Amino acid sequence: MAVLDIRNLIYWYRTRRGAVHAVDNISFKLEQGETIAVVGESGCGKTSTANAILRLLPKNVERYEGEIWFDGQDIMALGNEDFRKQVRWKGISMVLQGALNALNPTVRAGAQVAEPLIVHYDVDRDEAMEQAVAAMKRVGLPQDIARRYPHELSGGMKQRVVIAMALILKPKVVILDEPTSALDVMTQTNIINLLKEMKAAEGLSYIFITHDLGLASDLADHVAIMYAGEIDEIGPADHVFVHPKHPYTGRLLASVPRLRSEDAPEFIPGAPPDLTRPPPGCRFHLRCPVAFEKCGWVAEEFVDRLRLLQATTQGKEGFPRFSEVEARGTQMVVLRADSDSPETLAASFSEFVKSGRETNPFLKSVRSVDAKTKAVAVTLHEGAPPPLIGEEWRAACWLVQEATAHDTIPA
Ligand SMILES: Nc1ncnc2c1ncn2[C@@H]1O[C@H](COP(=O)(O)OP(=O)(O)OP(=O)(O)O)[C@@H](O)[C@H]1O
Ligand code: SF4
Ligand SMILES: [Mg+2]
Repeated sequence: MAVLDIRNLIYWYRTRRGAVHAVDNISFKLEQGETIAVVGESGCGKTSTANAILRLLPKNVERYEGEIWFDGQDIMALGNEDFRKQVRWKGISMVLQGALNALNPTVRAGAQVAEPLIVHYDVDRDEAMEQAVAAMKRVGLPQDIARRYPHELSGGMKQRVVIAMALILKPKVVILDEPTSALDVMTQTNIINLLKEMKAAEGLSYIFITHDLGLASDLADHVAIMYAGEIDEIGPADHVFVHPKHPYTGRLLASVPRLRSEDAPEFIPGAPPDLTRPPPGCRFHLRCPVAFEKCGWVAEEFVDRLRLLQATTQGKEGFPRFSEVEARGTQMVVLRADSDSPETLAASFSEFVKSGRETNPFLKSVRSVDAKTKAVAVTLHEGAPPPLIGEEWRAACWLVQEATAHDTIPA
């Protein structure tokens, strides 16, 4: 039985601009003694996932739904008080993002490690200090560190203090949110080795949140690739990092600089979408180099791309000579020309779509081009969000779905 089984977790924030879909229906399991790395670009919802699991909710929560099974119990069904007593820090704990910089400068390290025991469990101060020193020993900190203030500690020592805080109540699952991103490479390696040793010795399970693919591949048994509030690909780290199925994972891996490689890292064009208006269809379609008919372009996005292309290529041979372009609803785009007739414009636009589909994937979304009395109507294919398909190793991409249907998974 998995120690943690997350099913259809949804966690949105309410803002003036609308609801931020930070975590949108994600599911994954974590086995005892295993590490799952949650990887993705900044703002994709990694910390929000962690906060949702630990029910660390700000006031502006818009939706918080799903099931979180911990040790065989659906902890979403627990009242807040029971959750605090039974689960938070005791069953599942967390090293918060940036925690080493948030240590209280006026309180000695040992007292800060002991604090959860005193605050949450009313443990007597001397006993709490004894346990704090023991927890600090577990993470390789000598006893005298307990008496030092944070400014007397190195970055690596501070991070060990923060990990000791997360371990003091002997949880089964520890969520580590970017635990090493503020550390130099050697200290980072020491911390990762410490985490590995504790996992091997004590059977701890980790959710390791990072945007560092190298660290993720070093520590993780499984990996979940997040994009725009969703999991795009999830599976054994050995498989996902070697033969990613999802185009986003492939681009993410290609963006990592490599020592001793002639190849320059590739950047993913564009930026992650605004999560108050996640793109319809596949959320990656605006940046996907292999997007096609099913991926979900809508008229407004099509018009934006076409205008951009017009600004950079107008006047060049083969570019259709339209003077106006506008979206009509979600699936229709209307083009008008000053000089050419609708028939001439429709013919040149059809030719342009045919020849430009490979270099500009958004053109693949064109279903038909029709000359009307005064304008040209371009109708787009309707897309849909791809489901996460597969068993042990799942990816949410229509191409993977098509390939699986023909029994050949793209490498
Ligand atoms: N309290 C909040 N209110 C409104 N929006 C929020 C709040 N906290 C986070 N967000 C938004 O939710 C989305 C996901 O944020 P989150 O912090 O989970 O991302 P992340 O993947 O952890 O990013 P990073 O790698 O930068 O830490 C972002 O668009 C962020 O701006
Ligand atoms: S479904 Fe697959 S091919 Fe289509 S945009 Fe998404 S990742 Fe790209
Ligand atoms: Mg974060």
